[in-house]
Amino acid sequence: MSISLIGKTISESVTLKMNEIAAILRAKGDPLIHLGGGEPKTKVPIDAITSAAAHLNSGEVRYAPADGIPALKKSIIRYTDEFYKRRVEPENVIASGGAKQALMVALQAILDPQDEVIFPAPYWVSYPEMVKLCGAKPVPVLPEDGTFYPRLQDIEQVCSSYTKAVIINSPNNPSGAMYSEKFIAEIVEFCERKGYYLIMDDIYHRLIFDGKKPINCWDFVKDKTENSKMIIINGVSKQYAMTGFRIGWAVANKKLIEVMRNIQAHQTSGPSVVLQKAAVAAINGVQTCVESLRLTLENNCKIMMAQLNAFDGVKAYKPDGAFYCFADFSVYNKNSVELALFLLEKVQVITVPGLPFGLDGHLRLSTCGTVKDITGGIERIKWALDPNSPNELYIGERKLVRDWL
Ligand SMILES: Cc1ncc(COP(=O)(O)O)c(C=O)c1O
Repeated sequence: MSISLIGKTISESVTLKMNEIAAILRAKGDPLIHLGGGEPKTKVPIDAITSAAAHLNSGEVRYAPADGIPALKKSIIRYTDEFYKRRVEPENVIASGGAKQALMVALQAILDPQDEVIFPAPYWVSYPEMVKLCGAKPVPVLPEDGTFYPRLQDIEQVCSSYTKAVIINSPNNPSGAMYSEKFIAEIVEFCERKGYYLIMDDIYHRLIFDGKKPINCWDFVKDKTENSKMIIINGVSKQYAMTGFRIGWAVANKKLIEVMRNIQAHQTSGPSVVLQKAAVAAINGVQTCVESLRLTLENNCKIMMAQLNAFDGVKAYKPDGAFYCFADFSVYNKNSVELALFLLEKVQVITVPGLPFGLDGHLRLSTCGTVKDITGGIERIKWALDPNSPNELYIGERKLVRDWL
């Protein structure tokens, strides 16, 4: 069969694959623990549900403008004012099918074949594939000091005459690291000086721990005119637990948004108006749900860290925010894909291997589930890997006997 050159290079989304496996095993009734998820378990804000339902009940669900309904743009403008102290106009905003589409359309609007896009590793699995979809070259860079916190010199080292853009995701998926204000200031200044686009993927920016406050990248922009090449990405998926609504957005200069709108118009048209109405209600509604999710995640993260720290050989780094602990299990198996499959087979725990995030030997463990999921999941993993664990483990009624250590 004839498949395009680009199509052939695109790998399966490992995170979505893990969700599929989880759904199949659950449907079979297996006592699975899913530590692979990237979505909160909390309920969607009630305001969002009523607003979507009211629109559905009207019986008139039509095409939406390609770049989003005016009410959603208005909410995003207000959000941008509140969190970025940036006054934008509707022409600076596009609403897309999730932050994922906003990112994809932004990349399609700025990249030519052979252009290079730099992003720190570990990185969200979709960045390299999205860049490749544009015929461009992903350039991941691991911080040289072995931490999850990149320094400007790490980025500088991989710049070339082909560099077109830098993507920064902080707090980061998968590491949970929130980059320092110093680094954000430096990277903003650097990209401005070099004329690079700077894509700030801020999808987790309010979900941070230990009393930290979101960092406003726009604060450090010198040229705050329509020449600015900063693109801010956000959405309702994570902060409002609305992953299934598929509403995200980008804020950027008007010319770029116009091009993004043209691309999106031919690609998918605007996102469903029903879901946009839900997003408007979530953004404009009572914000206690965001704080309550943040607190749950912080608590879950503490519990997971305590368990991982008591796990011989595993190196876990305390996340500053987001949904994940990204722990180093290389002492047990340097091949993270093998390790994740082993844990699934032996103790029915779903984890996500570090390899597609650009760092093998690690597993991404989600803090989105219940405390029971977290404690039970890590207990099972420890039992499967740690030779000092007892030989038997009960999963419900079922007795497992370890015969592999
Ligand atoms: C870093 C990052 N950016 C973007 C997205 C996409 O978010 P959405 O569900 O709004 O498309 C995700 C989702 O996992 C993510 O982790």
